[in-house]
Amino acid sequence: MKIIESTPENLERAGEVIRNGGLVVMPTETVYGLAADALDAKAVEKIYAAKGRPASNPLIVHVADWGTVEEIAYPTDLAKRLADKFWPGPLTLVLAKKPVVPKETTAGLDSVAVRMPAHPVAQGLIKAAGRPLAAPSANAFTRLSPTRAEDVGDLLGVELILQGGPCEVGIESTVVDCRREEPIVLRPGQISLEQLQAVVPTTRSGAASEKVRAPGHHSRHYAPRTTIRMALRIGSEETGLTFQSPQNSRQIQMPVDPAGYAAELYHALHALDEVGAEYLVVEEPPREPGWDAIWDRLTRATS
Ligand code: TXA
Ligand code: MG
Repeated sequence: MKIIESTPENLERAGEVIRNGGLVVMPTETVYGLAADALDAKAVEKIYAAKGRPASNPLIVHVADWGTVEEIAYPTDLAKRLADKFWPGPLTLVLAKKPVVPKETTAGLDSVAVRMPAHPVAQGLIKAAGRPLAAPSANAFTRLSPTRAEDVGDLLGVELILQGGPCEVGIESTVVDCRREEPIVLRPGQISLEQLQAVVPTTRSGAASEKVRAPGHHSRHYAPRTTIRMALRIGSEETGLTFQSPQNSRQIQMPVDPAGYAAELYHALHALDEVGAEYLVVEEPPREPGWDAIWDRLTRATS
């Protein structure tokens, strides 16, 4: 792996890689992303090749200022209200796209997903490159998203991995389609439906309806290589995630609050994936509001 410290010099170097059409792994506050120039179709094609990602799965474009949003998309008033409240941060807004965004970036859709990440290294890379950055999570297709630079696996054609420490949020951003008066949550994340409704009361969840599910949001996703199942309690000899004191060295005790749990989840599963267990057990988290995004990821990981 080519992990480098995110010094100003290295950010300049990484920005040049992006301008030359190359791939850089960057930290964000949610998960590490595999970044390329979002407006360069050839560069974006390298992302799909590196991940083995189907061409039907659109990418999120990362920006460092509102002006860039207006250059690449047609923001609605309510999108602006959500951005004012939650950006920079773990919220992605789906907007009608402008022609400058190549079809490779949006998988042929006439919409584009935009996010302003809060992580200073992500912001630094966007500024150093001087380009909006298309960046999916830096994992092979259907595998676990990395939340540590060390968890980024081998990805074809990646020139650099920027060190940014552990991701604070730990699960992917909330994705909201903002093109109509009723914003629709396409992917749950740390920013909850209730928080969105406090800003735009007409916001609703899209999870119940297949039709409005996010494209590329496959039911089997976010999975370790080892088979994984859910249980109320983990057995004393089993390997997995627990809320109790661990009963053996292959059990990891998870935080009992959803934010703490999310921050640890992928790294814990990455670690347990290495122990060579026959299967992993994840104890069911509470069925309470605040745990929706965690349930979403665990359901996909175990499907
Ligand atoms: O937190 C995150 O969002 C991370 C970091 C790196 O920013 N990125 C991320 O990207 O999770 P990715 O590629 O793993 O997920 C992108 C998802 C797509 O699978 C799709 O569900 C949704 O975002 N998406 C992207 N463009 C869309 C569009 N035009 N319309 C609807 N959904 C879209
Ligand atoms: Mg992903």
